[in-house]
Amino acid sequence: MGTALHTPILDWYAEKARDLPWRRPDASPWAILVSEIMLQQTPVARVQPVWTEWMERWPTPAALAAEPPGEAVRHWGRLGYPRRALNLHACARAITADHDGRVPSSYDALRGLPGVGDYTAAAVASFAYGGSHAVLDTNVRRVLARAVRGEEYPPKATTTVERRLAESLLPALDAPTWAVAVMELGALVCTARAPRCADCPVAGLCAWRLAGRPAHDGPERRG
Ligand code: ADE
Repeated sequence: MGTALHTPILDWYAEKARDLPWRRPDASPWAILVSEIMLQQTPVARVQPVWTEWMERWPTPAALAAEPPGEAVRHWGRLGYPRRALNLHACARAITADHDGRVPSSYDALRGLPGVGDYTAAAVASFAYGGSHAVLDTNVRRVLARAVRGEEYPPKATTTVERRLAESLLPALDAPTWAVAVMELGALVCTARAPRCADCPVAGLCAWRLAGRPAHDGPERRG
């Protein structure tokens, strides 16, 4: 049933997606890496102004690498978890020293950068370079838990079953757009609490909704 989700979700995204600067076709891989690290623990609305100012100040990894690490922290604003500013600074230095100043394109090389975990490596390989990767953030995991597995919330930590499912759903064409479309559906419609099923393009296929939206048993997973 998985691939029956593709067209309705992609059509919904084409119509409803937010216009976010790091999603525009001219966003550089560095701009995308910066956005993904900022978005790891901070909502879009708070990230956007800080990201814009950051990209004006440090449009390339080399520009940031030339600064002392404290400058990165100083310009992190109120995004929280300021260790991420230090990680980005360390990324800039590693990219400059080891990758000719260019954000690497392979999942493995990205995964080797400071503070870049599975999600961020898959997101950057996908959104910056068009790679085909399962991009499993909390929104994507919740949409797949509901639509395909009939469960209100995904497990606490990503499982092999979820990863296999996400990989089996990768479309042959344009995996990056699929990834961002599912992410957006989770952020705007299939929200953790009070999902807006009336606005959902796959409500008619959703295993969780068809089962009567059973509550999660066990400790609630909001993520
Ligand atoms: N677009 C691309 N990546 C995103 C993210 N992590 N959160 C929200 N929008 C995004």
